[in-house]
Amino acid sequence: MGEITVSGGKNTSVAVIPATLLCDAPCTIENLPDIDDVHALIEILEHLGARVEYVPGHHLTVDPSGVKSCHVPFPYTNRLRASYYLLGALLGRSGCAEVAYPGGCDIGSRPIDQHLKGFSALGAKIEDRGGVVYAKAEKLQGADIFFDMVTVGGTINVMMAAAKAEGNTVIYNPAKEPHIVDLANFLNSMGAKIKGAGTDVIRIRGQQKLRGTTYTVIPDQIETGTLMIAAAATRGDVTIRGCIPTHMEALTAKLLEMGVRVTQSDDSIRVRPQSEQRAVNVKTQVYPGFPTDLQQPMTALLCMATGTSTVSETIFEQRFKHLDELRRMGAKIKLMDRTVLIEGVRELYGAPVTVTDLRAGAALVVAGLMAKGITEIYETSYIDRGYERIEEKLRSLGADIRREKL
Ligand code: EPU
Repeated sequence: MGEITVSGGKNTSVAVIPATLLCDAPCTIENLPDIDDVHALIEILEHLGARVEYVPGHHLTVDPSGVKSCHVPFPYTNRLRASYYLLGALLGRSGCAEVAYPGGCDIGSRPIDQHLKGFSALGAKIEDRGGVVYAKAEKLQGADIFFDMVTVGGTINVMMAAAKAEGNTVIYNPAKEPHIVDLANFLNSMGAKIKGAGTDVIRIRGQQKLRGTTYTVIPDQIETGTLMIAAAATRGDVTIRGCIPTHMEALTAKLLEMGVRVTQSDDSIRVRPQSEQRAVNVKTQVYPGFPTDLQQPMTALLCMATGTSTVSETIFEQRFKHLDELRRMGAKIKLMDRTVLIEGVRELYGAPVTVTDLRAGAALVVAGLMAKGITEIYETSYIDRGYERIEEKLRSLGADIRREKL
């Protein structure tokens, strides 16, 4: 019960930070979440030779003028998925990127063929050997690019490189997530000419030079959703402030269908309890559909809804590693291909459980909040990749949750 303010967006921050390499003057970014993925990217920029001033919770200033290297080795890239954005950023900066394959959550095969196809179309020569992508271009040249599937990472990477290419680039079938629009706004504030982000076609007029800027990233869509689900799970009365309710329509619609009361103002969402929560069917889709990043916490919530729910995951084939842990807590769940069948139970009970990826961690926190008794959650570093001080935020709303050092 109470009010909570949402942090800056993870998936927008991890794109905006590498994008600072596209100019040669300092950029200041505000509202970054204080999470491990942000720290890991800052270390990569410093490794490349950028001067960085970071005041967590306040701002990050990156002066990339000293960046000469275009090589990012595996010990750096392995720490996060978004290290693949160094490819587009370095290619746009200097026509050279040598970036080891990214790490990140193990939720399926996650190829980057569409990113590479986009870079090739812009005139880069790509070699993919020994776990490193080598991309080189004398001069990037604008092109028409049609993505075979909607890809967030591919859209962002190609937007970054194309912002500095000569001539016009048109991206067909791009991702439309809020962080795509936010990155385009950031790049435009540096002097890029990008139109159509958030629609079915993005048009980019390449610029030779971009300038330094000051930019505030949008609030985190997935943290907002996780807090909404946590509020529903505990039958709490919670107001989430500083969020963008229009980014949350797919989740809001599902919670309303379950019988949860959700009301919105311009920049806040209030979630209030209803006596019974009904089972619903959920299918993940690209934005504005139900986000795959909320599939796991939503599955946890549905474990105690009345009736049988289904949750179908269409984006990542292995985003189901939380299910075994939920079963330990008493959930009645069956996985059939890519659909989870959930028979609502009256009670979950606390158990020791292990986090396998970021959003699985969020799911286990939600389940722990609903369960009787004590839930011990191990491998919490996955959660810290993407959620800022999650236990403090939930505690401020009345949850009995604390972090213990082993
Ligand atoms: N895909 C390909 N080839 C490509 C690119 C993607 O086959 O070249 C496939 C993927 O395997 C997947 C689908 O296309 O099946 C969508 O992948 P996408 O590229 O959109 O995902 P991503 O860039 O790897 C980002 C977020 C994820 C989020 C997805 C979907 C970042 C750093 N990661 O991943 O965030 O789930 O988009 O919205 O922005 C998270 O925050 O927990 C997280 C995993």
